[in-house]
Amino acid sequence: MLVSAAEMLKKAKAGKYAVGQFNINNLEWTKAILQTAQEMNSPVILGVSEGAGKYMCGYNTIVGMVNGMIETLGITVPVALHLDHGSYEGAKKCIEAGFSSIMFDGSHYPIEENIAKTKELIELAAAKGMSLEAEVGAIGGEEDGVVGSGEVADPNECKMIADLGVSMLAAGIGNIHGKYPANWAGLNFEVLGKISELTGDMPLVLHGGTGIPAEMIQKAISLGVSKINVNTECQLAFAAATREYIEAGKDLQGKGFDPRKLLAPGVEAIKATVKEKIELFGSANKA
Ligand code: 13P
Repeated sequence: MLVSAAEMLKKAKAGKYAVGQFNINNLEWTKAILQTAQEMNSPVILGVSEGAGKYMCGYNTIVGMVNGMIETLGITVPVALHLDHGSYEGAKKCIEAGFSSIMFDGSHYPIEENIAKTKELIELAAAKGMSLEAEVGAIGGEEDGVVGSGEVADPNECKMIADLGVSMLAAGIGNIHGKYPANWAGLNFEVLGKISELTGDMPLVLHGGTGIPAEMIQKAISLGVSKINVNTECQLAFAAATREYIEAGKDLQGKGFDPRKLLAPGVEAIKATVKEKIELFGSANKA
């Protein structure tokens, strides 16, 4: 059964570890992540961007697929199905479709409008027992065609949004989606520390988990980050393993063209990536 992310993140914040949000793109992705979380006895959040939602034939299809897998694979660890960077309209659709968590990304609105829309969605989500993530300070980089400029959030704005009753809060601290450029300045721990101080028990969310060095991840967790989003890293691992299979000519040997064989190395690569992250984030055996 899908659960809200609120409870697992409260526990993570108190226990000083983070739960991974891994974005899904298709059946193989979803199965790989669920199986790895179960093997590691870790709570997990499946992230769905609006673009991935469209690709997978809409939110109802995704809810059906994920619920079916949880049952058939015997998944007993807590699983949240979460809309990633949702628009106001997208968030409403996911509330209706049976997601268990949503992110409303109002970071591009003026703060007053971000507050008004966040408040309304909190009520709609709460009525269904769902968690809601809000964002302050756009996350830089490019995701699904949405390009952010990489802001550092204002800690006072974070406090305002946290006080509305959101379940978890994403704050830009120099993190970006996708690969980090060679001249990246790193995470702004000073601002993260201030946000943490002002928002108390609020679980903080770190987007752009791909390519952040392990020491920075650990420091961010020690300063109150309890949810870390990873997307690109699974994509890169999948693509590299698939490339290797094809370049070795394995699709041309016997029944190597069978999609169940052709996609298998990529699936194993996703599993290895998720396992590594769960270990780094400290959520193994916290289910
Ligand atoms: P990466 O693609 O950089 O891992 O970021 C994922 C993310 O933050 C999803 O919201």
